[in-house]
Amino acid sequence: MKQFVYMDAAASWLKPQSVIESEADFLANSYANAGRGICARAGHVDTLVDESRKTVADFINSDKENIVWTSGTTDAINRIVNILKNTYSDKILTVAVSDLEHHSARLPFEMWANNSGCNIVVMPLDKELNIDKDNLPLADVYVITAMSNVIGVAQDVELIIQSIRKINPNAITIVDAAQFVVHNKIDIKKFDCDFLVFSGHKIGADTGVGVMYIKNPEVWNVDKFGGGMVNRIMDDGSVLLNKSPEKFEAGTLPLTQIIGLKSAIKYLSDWKSGHDLIEYMYDELSKIERIKIFTKRDASMISFIVKDMHVIDFGAMIGAHDICIRVGNMCASWIHKKLNIDGSVRISVGPWNTMEDAKSVVDVIKEILK
Ligand SMILES: Cc1ncc(COP(=O)(O)O)c(C=O)c1O
Repeated sequence: MKQFVYMDAAASWLKPQSVIESEADFLANSYANAGRGICARAGHVDTLVDESRKTVADFINSDKENIVWTSGTTDAINRIVNILKNTYSDKILTVAVSDLEHHSARLPFEMWANNSGCNIVVMPLDKELNIDKDNLPLADVYVITAMSNVIGVAQDVELIIQSIRKINPNAITIVDAAQFVVHNKIDIKKFDCDFLVFSGHKIGADTGVGVMYIKNPEVWNVDKFGGGMVNRIMDDGSVLLNKSPEKFEAGTLPLTQIIGLKSAIKYLSDWKSGHDLIEYMYDELSKIERIKIFTKRDASMISFIVKDMHVIDFGAMIGAHDICIRVGNMCASWIHKKLNIDGSVRISVGPWNTMEDAKSVVDVIKEILK
């Protein structure tokens, strides 16, 4: 039987068996709500959620009270915009973004700016398409895409934030680590950012769970109200909130996904990277005259265009060979505009991919473009 080749890890990971098993076990044997019950079974769920939070905290060298569950990166960035709105009320902030951003990291700010809530300034990129930390504009808030989902190069987040703090010691720094976290160790103490976000599904967990690290949770107003975050409703109608992280977690949590995330992080930590596959495909695809690769050999993904062929046509042809790779604008319009292209083709690998997969992808591409 012809093998289906899934090389779109940067969009979403296939799920490791350990994640599937931990979720199935929870659903079959331990399910109850968290943070609400006092029976032993509910207490056990609280422990499971707490263990998962501890795993995430350790994973990025943080503490449990700084780790807030979200439904993913997009949710987290939209929430941060609302947290900023609720904390600064009518103050107009200047927000620095870059052309590396995914729509999820920049559009919530652009839309806020359209409603005159903030001003946007764009951080320049250098010749290598990295954030030019020596020419940063003055801003109140900086959004840093730690790794573009098109270029696949890790930004030097630590140095960028040090440069930001020289310009504005009080700047608020937000790191989109959705792609970075797959390939790089995060040490939040070194980054010293105010917020860092990533999605579970890109590292093997289920959809519907994500992480929002908040450095100083006590200084921020919440963006959501509901069950689980209230300590007491006072007689005057005011609300005494729980401490972080609960104060940011209104409503029932995505429990199954949170429990799966613990197994996913263990699995990711054991993965040795698929860079040998990337290098092999990079070298082979570089030999094809009609392909123009615009990522580096040591990047975490390969992005390219095909001369005289629309990327969607290319995607349809390769898809017909049961190969799943990504084509289009990758929800990252600004970097495509900067490169003066409408879209691109992206190949990205996960732990399930083999050298045989890499060879079949190269063979099929050669066949299509011969
Ligand atoms: C760099 C980057 N940021 C944000 C996102 C949005 O992630 P999600 O769709 O999981 O919210 C993605 C997804 O591709 C991404 O690659």
